[in-house]
Amino acid sequence: MKVLVTGGSGFIGSHVVDQLLVAGHEPVIFDFAQSVHHPPTEVKTILGDIADRDTAWRAVHGCDAIIHLAAVADVSDVVADPLRADRTNVHGTQIILDAARHGDISRVVYGSTVWVYGDSPGEQPLDEGAPLALPAHFYTATKLAGEMYCRSYTSLYGTPHTILRFGIPYGPRARPAAVVPSFVARAQEGKALTIAGDGRQTRQFVYVEDLAAGIVAGLAATGANGIYNLVGDEQTSVRQIADTIREVVKQVPLVHGPERPADVHIGYISGARAKADLGWEPQTPFLDGVRRYVDWLATTNGSPLADTASSIDGSAATVLRQESAEL
Ligand SMILES: NC(=O)c1ccc[n+]([C@@H]2O[C@H](COP(=O)([O-])OP(=O)(O)OC[C@H]3O[C@@H](n4cnc5c(N)ncnc54)[C@H](O)[C@@H]3O)[C@@H](O)[C@H]2O)c1
Repeated sequence: MKVLVTGGSGFIGSHVVDQLLVAGHEPVIFDFAQSVHHPPTEVKTILGDIADRDTAWRAVHGCDAIIHLAAVADVSDVVADPLRADRTNVHGTQIILDAARHGDISRVVYGSTVWVYGDSPGEQPLDEGAPLALPAHFYTATKLAGEMYCRSYTSLYGTPHTILRFGIPYGPRARPAAVVPSFVARAQEGKALTIAGDGRQTRQFVYVEDLAAGIVAGLAATGANGIYNLVGDEQTSVRQIADTIREVVKQVPLVHGPERPADVHIGYISGARAKADLGWEPQTPFLDGVRRYVDWLATTNGSPLADTASSIDGSAATVLRQESAEL
């Protein structure tokens, strides 16, 4: 199958391209930026803006399915320029859906986020039918709007979609400002790790190669018009993140910073539906995933992506920003 991967040069998208190749599909990257992981001689690449209708139509033409990941995905960028986030995440998603309905597209797989469960009044574990609260964050609002457009386009025009709500991805090629890369960078420099308050706040991480396999599994016939959580099954606290990284990298000191202001509450999320319908479940325990990330850093030493990881400030305020940046 020829699969267009919007955002295919990014963190998650580049792993999706790898997984598509492994599964015998033909990926096509559609991104602003040339991928540093897949040169155009290896993977066909269309450079351009998803919100530009003509370019999007050209990219979609001749493809069988679309995995739509292009977005303003860093909340710091969303907060800095909400109009750009809306143009890409909402309008850009609509352009892709509209191009799909005019093309011969059998599926649009949409990359959403578990942050849509923020402040959900549903009972835990939260499944895909849990009631959703109106989003407190503009990023979440744009991602939820994309989900709603997927559903409306299917209902009005028939192009099947699959909505995938990702947990917090980590692993090779991660953004340096995310919490795992920044803690690893500090530990490698022998600096203390600062955690806000008691560090008991938890996240459901998902190792990025597992996540990418789940995204490709979303193309399965059984996934048509479904919503699936792609989450790790462990709840990892900030304290456990720090302890894991101290175990894997170096036993640097742990410093407790002031309690952080309450952020969006997300309960425990179930991945049972993805296992039942898509045959996907996470394979990599957090400890192993961190080891693989550290191994990857060692083998890519000197690459621009790895290099920037060492410049991150690990203060409590920064960790707060980093965590909230991982939507
Ligand atoms: N990283 C996370 O923590 C996380 C969690 C849940 C969901 N998601 C979602 O997963 C998807 C991928 O996220 P990521 O972490 O790989 O982000 P990323 O920033 O690494 O990748 C996004 C890619 O999209 C491209 N892009 C952005 N705007 C574009 C535009 N207008 N036209 C063409 N290309 C454009 C960027 O160049 C980049 O390569 C996003 O939809 C994001 O909302 C991410």
